[in-house]
Amino acid sequence: MRSIISLAAFAALVSAAPVDKRYSDFSPDGVYFPLDDGFPTPSADQLQTIQKQAFGTLSNAQPPDKVSDEGITNFQLVAANEILEVAYFTELHYNVTNKAPGYDLGYAHQYVLDELEAIIAQEKLHALNANGALKKFGKDPIQPCKYSFPVTDFQSAIALAATFTDVVMGTLQDVIQQFALNGDTGFVRGVAASLGNEGEQEGFFRLILNKRPSSQPFLTTSVRDFAFTAINGLIVPGSCPNIDSIPLKIFKPLTVVTQNIQAVTQNIEYSFPQLDGVNDYSAYALVLINGQNKPIVEPLTNVAIENGVVTFDAAFPFDENNLNGLTITAVTNTQGPFATAGDVAKAAVFGPGVIET
Ligand SMILES: *[C@@H]1O[C@H](CO)[C@@H](O)[C@H](O)[C@H]1NC(C)=O
Repeated sequence: MRSIISLAAFAALVSAAPVDKRYSDFSPDGVYFPLDDGFPTPSADQLQTIQKQAFGTLSNAQPPDKVSDEGITNFQLVAANEILEVAYFTELHYNVTNKAPGYDLGYAHQYVLDELEAIIAQEKLHALNANGALKKFGKDPIQPCKYSFPVTDFQSAIALAATFTDVVMGTLQDVIQQFALNGDTGFVRGVAASLGNEGEQEGFFRLILNKRPSSQPFLTTSVRDFAFTAINGLIVPGSCPNIDSIPLKIFKPLTVVTQNIQAVTQNIEYSFPQLDGVNDYSAYALVLINGQNKPIVEPLTNVAIENGVVTFDAAFPFDENNLNGLTITAVTNTQGPFATAGDVAKAAVFGPGVIET
């Protein structure tokens, strides 16, 4: 039997040599759907197979008979995200199966494929659950887009999966909060159940990345607008039939320039596109969201503007604040203080910049 240690050790052996980005044979034109099993609209028989592969079923309990508008937005966001995840993990599975350059896992091959098969099927059910709710309440299901993923080897693919799964887990907290605030009590339990499943997946990714599987006692929170922006960053622009029916904000991009950020207090470099005619960013701040704590506000230092790109440094106060796991950063047009991640999103212009330690 394969031990956990050997699984973690194989990660170090996998070649991380970067290769030129090209579309996978799996999705020559960024088109992933429909899959062979009919997803995103499987037949009843195809659904049976997906449920077997997922090691569980869609809930057969009586669903609530009403939902709020915010609740609809929740289901739309979850569907958009889960469909993207199905595309991602299906392509990753394809790359590993075919031992594409950078994806030859040696003896870990079959174990990883088995786990990816479970993850893909579980994400399909998350998506079908959300789109099923939209249908039930007379709304259009969210349709797949074309995607382009910035990864070309197994390690970077797992690192990206770990990052977006972390953002999703932070955002599902917000989804639960929105359901609760709007009287959609009957949906809360199921979201919490899917959040736990994502956490199990995250532990697997972190193990492969040679990290402690459980990152922090209370996961970093996020809000729906940050996740929606992050999802859009992986979509081929203009390729979505109806993602614009989701009434969430898309922020301007914030890039974390510093790479391989270690778990120590340090300055981190960021960049964002210059706003039209704006040269003075002294009123702006870099805000860090980690765990369930009050957002941390840091001034922008060493601000430089060149060719329409603004670069700056800001403190990453790791030691003082125990900034383990996911940290979400945003540039706001006020200095706060901010009581919640939601308050940060209201004042955010650029984001989310994502840091993993
Ligand atoms: C799969 O491999 C192709 C070709 O290298 C690459 O473009 C694509 O991003 C990879 N996808 C994943 C999810 O690893």
